[in-house]
Amino acid sequence: MRRAFIIGDPVAHSRSPMIHRYWLEKHAITGAYEPVRVVPEALPAFAAGLKDGEAGFVGGNVTIPHKEAIFALADETEEVAELIGAANTLWLEDGKLKATNTDAYGFAANLDAEAPGWDKGGKAVVLGAGGASRAILFSLIERGFSDIVLVNRTVARAGELAKRFGSDSITAAPLAELGAALVGAGLFVNTSSLGMEGSATPDLDFSVMAKGGLVTDIVYAPLVTPFLRKARSQGLATADGLGMLLHQAVPGFEKWFGTRPEVDAELRAMIVADLEV
Ligand code: ATR
Repeated sequence: MRRAFIIGDPVAHSRSPMIHRYWLEKHAITGAYEPVRVVPEALPAFAAGLKDGEAGFVGGNVTIPHKEAIFALADETEEVAELIGAANTLWLEDGKLKATNTDAYGFAANLDAEAPGWDKGGKAVVLGAGGASRAILFSLIERGFSDIVLVNRTVARAGELAKRFGSDSITAAPLAELGAALVGAGLFVNTSSLGMEGSATPDLDFSVMAKGGLVTDIVYAPLVTPFLRKARSQGLATADGLGMLLHQAVPGFEKWFGTRPEVDAELRAMIVADLEV
């Protein structure tokens, strides 16, 4: 039986077990996906146990606070994870512990499914310059966006990220310029914590975006964030953040269990019901 894990501290809140167990059952795979609480001090021993096969795992997910620390313990890390500065997926291959990050994939795959043609180019505006923003920037550059305005409260952080990606395509801007940046944009992505349950959100005018523009938010609690609600009311296309969470799980499942699963309506409905509890 193939067994996969999610390690974190805490780990109980994670929705990954629901997602992977849904797919295991759907594909009638005899396998397991187990949450394992690993405190930071125990991470090296956990990684050693994985490599020598003692733990019996084929791989798994990594969540807070191990997404960066795992780099030092993996034998190989894919470039996407290095650029993002965090790994979320591990697997054993040829006796080696390999690490990657599937968030950039999840972001693009979700929009491919929900808003085909989203990557046709034009100006993209990204709000937020934290960890999540890096995955979005990676994805946008990979998809050929050459005019990305990275808006952040702390503009210096946006400047550092633009430098990290070594790309002329990213321009850093302060929050005060967000409204102006949206003029003519084809895509707006919120990667900041603005709009999460309990936080205040600036009232943006999305009607200034290009015709057929898309607004997406990586926040998924609430599912319809204040940004998405406003964009819908102004007639823009929207995609919520839950899709990214579901799609980012696909590559890991395929690596561990050998079947490429689908993000279907039943899976989505199951997680939505869980979010509403
Ligand atoms: P994550 O890893 O989820 O991206 P993070 O690294 O803490 O989280 O980043 C949070 C983002 O939300 C940052 O861009 C942060 O802006 P700063 O870099 O200026 O801190 C942004 N953010 C959080 N609270 C905010 C607020 N009240 N107003 C504007 N931006 C905010």
